[in-house]
Amino acid sequence: MSVRSPRRLLIAGAAGFIGSNFVRLLRTTRPDVEITVLDKLTYAGNLANLAEFEGQPGYRFVQGDICDEKVVRSLAKEVDGIVNFAAETHVDRSLMDPFNFIETDVRGTAVLCEAAREFRHEVFLLVSTDEVYGEVMEGRSKEDDPFRPRSPYSASKAGGEHIAHAYAASFGLPLLVTRGSNTYGPYQYPEKLIPVLLTNAIDDLRLPLYGEGRAVRDYVYVEDHCRAIDLVLHEAPLSGGAYNIGTGRESSGRQVADAVLDILGKPHSLIEYVVDRPGHDYRYAVDVTRVTQLGWEPVVDFRDGLLKTADWYREHEEWWRPLKSGEYWEYYKKNYKPKI
Ligand code: NAD
Ligand code: DAU
Repeated sequence: MSVRSPRRLLIAGAAGFIGSNFVRLLRTTRPDVEITVLDKLTYAGNLANLAEFEGQPGYRFVQGDICDEKVVRSLAKEVDGIVNFAAETHVDRSLMDPFNFIETDVRGTAVLCEAAREFRHEVFLLVSTDEVYGEVMEGRSKEDDPFRPRSPYSASKAGGEHIAHAYAASFGLPLLVTRGSNTYGPYQYPEKLIPVLLTNAIDDLRLPLYGEGRAVRDYVYVEDHCRAIDLVLHEAPLSGGAYNIGTGRESSGRQVADAVLDILGKPHSLIEYVVDRPGHDYRYAVDVTRVTQLGWEPVVDFRDGLLKTADWYREHEEWWRPLKSGEYWEYYKKNYKPKI
């Protein structure tokens, strides 16, 4: 018996990477839940990620912006809860154009909170990030640690979280927050480290590493991340607040690149050290005691997850090749040109 079982969910941003994997999990494990996806379909949103659900009973897709109060209210009045994945998510892009991030990640979150308050939702789950704690060179961040974001992306995510916490304190918003670590797996847009490395290596292109590949991250497989969000959504007490999600295992950029090249049988000479990301956070690490106490543990080991992911990208070139064209190369040149 779950703590709560919202029957009708509005899932924002589910045409992206983690959100689409979350819908896949929910359709499999909770087929009776009615799902409305709201997604703006930015460059990172892709209807192909959700194609298998189109036409299924209990599923519908609406193209729209979480900043659009009219659209959000019209959908929010028909559901029992909101799960928000919608965000601008790439740190490098936030260094080029911070305002999109502030608009969606802060204001958009506020619009969703307001609608959840108005329609007295049972639950509001905000998908946040371990980046809100900022760089952590020693130890592990706990959920009650202060926020010290250092990029426009992480500052915008922290801003959205602050708004949501303010709604919980001021208006009793039934808020739950997850703060996931770096996530990888199928359907990830090829701008984040792992899909950049995999798709570049498949094409014998250079593998760009910032800061000589010394920065470390905790890479969690997307299915593990989604199971944790599902568990928090259904089992966490509302007093639970925020939940860190991660594996506790750290990998440097160089280790990830070496593993990718070994898996694909490509030469390590493809690795190219490029000029560092400005304000690069060299380490994130989270304490996951709280989510572990709810009953979650990651089951996919990094090596197995990377193998599965490499296989997926090798077998789904029709998914990622069209993404690596036009706007993508404009972005790529702008981001890496001064560096390579
Ligand atoms: P993504 O970039 O793959 O997808 C984001 C989705 O949000 C896209 O479908 C996009 O179209 C949609 N979107 C953007 N702006 C919107 C708007 N104004 N209105 C409606 N939809 C909009 O992102 P992801 O990697 O799947 O991340 C999902 C969430 O998880 C984000 O909130 C992110 O901050 C968080 N997160 C990501 C990671 C990671 O490593 N990828 C780790 C921890 C937390
Ligand atoms: O920690 C969670 C966060 O992880 C999420 O909230 C973000 O949405 C997600 O983008 C991710 O942020 P990072 O900046 O950590 O991810 P990214 O894949 O961009 O970079 C991972 C590491 O690899 C980081 O140290 C920078 C480095 N890097 C990245 C790219 C794209 C490179 O060395 N070369 C690259 O080309």
